[in-house]
Amino acid sequence: MDKREETQHSNLQEIEKEILIEIEEIKSLDLLERLTTKYLGRKGILTTFLRNIPKLPVEDRPSAGKNANLLKVKLEGLFSQLRAQLESVAENNNDFIDVTLPGRVAIRGTLHPVTRISREITAIFSRIGFEIAEGPEVETDYYNFEALNIPKYHPARDMQDTFYVSENIVLRTHTSPTQPRVMEKVKPPVRIIAPGKVYRCDSDVTHTPMFHQVEGLMVDSDVSFGDLKGTLSTFIHQLFDEDISLRFRPSFFPFTEPSAEVDIECVMCRGKGCRVCSGTGWLEVLGSGMVHPAVFENVGYDTKKYTGFAFGMGVERLAMLKYGIDDLRKFFENDMRFLRQF
Ligand code: PHE
Repeated sequence: MDKREETQHSNLQEIEKEILIEIEEIKSLDLLERLTTKYLGRKGILTTFLRNIPKLPVEDRPSAGKNANLLKVKLEGLFSQLRAQLESVAENNNDFIDVTLPGRVAIRGTLHPVTRISREITAIFSRIGFEIAEGPEVETDYYNFEALNIPKYHPARDMQDTFYVSENIVLRTHTSPTQPRVMEKVKPPVRIIAPGKVYRCDSDVTHTPMFHQVEGLMVDSDVSFGDLKGTLSTFIHQLFDEDISLRFRPSFFPFTEPSAEVDIECVMCRGKGCRVCSGTGWLEVLGSGMVHPAVFENVGYDTKKYTGFAFGMGVERLAMLKYGIDDLRKFFENDMRFLRQF
């Protein structure tokens, strides 16, 4: 070994000696991390040594390189062994539970107001004997329109801004297609309620392209308009309160005849007239009517034997009125401060 080679060697040996002393002091993963960086990091002592090898005289390079690499491998081994030891100590420490610490409160979510009021609506109807039905959101033109007495190119189609998937497939614009779907499958008596999402190509302060409706349908041998009034009055009184006034106003839907829209006394001003009810004292909350004979014919019900009523309501609208929410968009912004209130 010549003189220079010896200096190199003792230099490496010094580095090694130093590390072996330092490693004894390492009692935490943090410190180990720091030591690793000090020697093996990008600017670490050993890394720098290795990087400087090309600057050594040619004849010194092979042995310096070999020894430095040997040391590097040795250190990596030592460090990883120590890391494993420290990690297992840290894990075991986690088993220690300080029972004197105050408990942590589990944060509970709340139901979305739309979910909440949908459940309230279906619960009220369940109590008076209605069953829950469901239909697809991607619907055929037939069930969404045709079966409901709304032929192609009929001006009544203009009432609903339809999203077309293809010529004969639409996103349902209302929950009414569940009516013919259910009636095709079961014979009267029918008493169903169908909650779900509906879609209309419309978006502003009071409209969102997706919203929720609840549909209702009752068919039997002698269902009258009186039954419709009684059922919907009971419902409104249970959802809002016993002494809220309501009125039935003549209207038009192609699938009901006669048709009526139901208004309730404005819940904000109690009928005096305010901004919410545009000064009228009344709020429109649902559409309804006696099932049109053409709809019965489409599903094969005997129009001489059966009569029925149907109704449909907007869930967001009812939630806004019930909880005093002034902006429809709040339902869909996922602002936790808003949602936590329910
Ligand atoms: N489907 C109608 C709408 O979306 C509401 C309705 C349902 C009217 C059932 C009458 C009977 O506006």
